[in-house]
Amino acid sequence: MDRARVAVLISGRGSNMAALLYAAKADDCPFAICAVLSDKPQAAGLALAAAEGVPTAAIDAKALKAGLWPALEAAIAEANPDYIALAGFMRIIPAGFVERWAGRLVNIHPSLLPKYKGLHTHQSAIDAGDDVTGATVHLVTPEVDSGAILGQVEVAILPGDDAEALDARVLIAEHQLYPRVLAEFVRRAERKQ
Ligand code: GRF
Repeated sequence: MDRARVAVLISGRGSNMAALLYAAKADDCPFAICAVLSDKPQAAGLALAAAEGVPTAAIDAKALKAGLWPALEAAIAEANPDYIALAGFMRIIPAGFVERWAGRLVNIHPSLLPKYKGLHTHQSAIDAGDDVTGATVHLVTPEVDSGAILGQVEVAILPGDDAEALDARVLIAEHQLYPRVLAEFVRRAERKQ
């Protein structure tokens, strides 16, 4: 069976992208990373992906009259993915783009959705006195962090955790979750075809 082609969109560090990329090295992984694209030319994850032989593109929206999205859509068309995985991509996705990729556009969010949509999720969980938080992989819909949940992982909050400590631990769990859930999702979709 051909592997599903996944384009990953990042804005920075790209550690979740790296987790997907390394997972895709396994012989039985049902997806391959066909491109890593960024809205930030200096995104650290781009160099990592390029060193692994994955095509990359950085789109500097400031340098483009038409803005980010036409150039990004062109780069996506060239990569010809079956799915798009957002991994720390810090942009609101336009509704038209979401519609074109409906059911094939996934994201990872550092909370147990529907709790704590948006930013500062770890501080919100600590401030609320929660003893558990986590991460969620979900489908992207026009409303931010609100699409169907594909998988979650719980992470215990320790006494004395600050947002930084919690972020570091949740990130470890994210790196386990994202490849596993994306693989399950892709396998389910292939079976339906
Ligand atoms: C992760 O915490 C992810 O859940 C959130 O942004 C962060 C990206 O980190 N959407 P990285 O760039 O994957 O290291």
